[in-house]
Amino acid sequence: MPALLAIETSCDETAAAVVRDGAILSSIVASQAKLHAPYGGVVPEIASRQHLRSVDALVLEALKQARVSPTALDAVAVTRGPGLPSALLVGVAAARGLALRLGKPLLPIHHIEAHLYSAPVAAPFVALVVSGGHTLLVHVARVGSHRLLGRTLDDAAGEAFDKVAQLLGLGYPGGPAIEKVACNGNPKAYDFPRPMLKSGDWNFSFSGLKTALRRAAAQPRTARADQPPEETTADLAASFQAAVVEILVEKTLRAARAREVRAVSVSGGVACNGALKVAFEAACRRENLALGWAERALCTDNAAMIGRLAARKLAAGAPIPEDWDIAPDWTLPEE
Ligand code: KG4
Ligand code: ZN
Repeated sequence: MPALLAIETSCDETAAAVVRDGAILSSIVASQAKLHAPYGGVVPEIASRQHLRSVDALVLEALKQARVSPTALDAVAVTRGPGLPSALLVGVAAARGLALRLGKPLLPIHHIEAHLYSAPVAAPFVALVVSGGHTLLVHVARVGSHRLLGRTLDDAAGEAFDKVAQLLGLGYPGGPAIEKVACNGNPKAYDFPRPMLKSGDWNFSFSGLKTALRRAAAQPRTARADQPPEETTADLAASFQAAVVEILVEKTLRAARAREVRAVSVSGGVACNGALKVAFEAACRRENLALGWAERALCTDNAAMIGRLAARKLAAGAPIPEDWDIAPDWTLPEE
């Protein structure tokens, strides 16, 4: 397999990586989370400005750590979309410039497709991709041949974590913050709804759950009259997390049954969640399904997943598109 340099700038992580023969030689991620934290979410202008500041140095550092000279690269890969337009532009411009200077092909990669293939599992399988911007279920019949089964109709699962964390005053990014306080809470304290659990399709909806939490937070039902506020917050966080986990596990396993596959995979930022992993492991053991879980460094945004997918496409002889631009709303290409 060829050696590739990959760049990812679709949201608030600037990332560069070098991959060769399926191995990740280097993978550097500069998270901007601290810059966006005061705003409770990603500010596109801040993101693109910061990408611009970091991207060249990250590329050099990725090459240096990998001990690969630019001339030894077979290709350059970059996230074309989906993502924030101004953020995508920075990565694509950097990658295009580099590919032109080196006279190497440039491969535009779909961010979600890269998440999708970042969990180690043999096809056929049903993949759950859960991140800050996306929640989808995909049927992968063969590697490179996948079909979208369903997606969120409103908020993404990670987005729901982020919004609920903000509501509870836990800061940004919300996922890790909720998970941390949820450890001290009772997941049964609040009986939050499980929207679309039995909808019969593979779509999700998380905005109703967020509304239910907002209502409960305004009028908390405390276990004891003297319950300290941080215990109430922990109960709310734990009950919210339990609802999200149940929906994600149940719907994924139902999709696996319906598509008659014996394996499922989970990837994307929300796959960092320990409670989600424990619940998936138990459910897959019960149903005798293989479970592929993206390793932690590949869950949140990174360039290694972009490089790996591009390397596979290149090795498989996939055509290299020429005239293309960023695709902020790019839907998952079904092959
Ligand atoms: O994949 P990612 O880095 O970016 C997107 O492509 O969106 O995912 C980021 C999302 C954020 O919403 C963050 O709150 C969530 O992943 N996340 C978590 C955890 N760690 C990150 N959600 C739940 N539990 C976590 N431990
Ligand atoms: Zn992502």
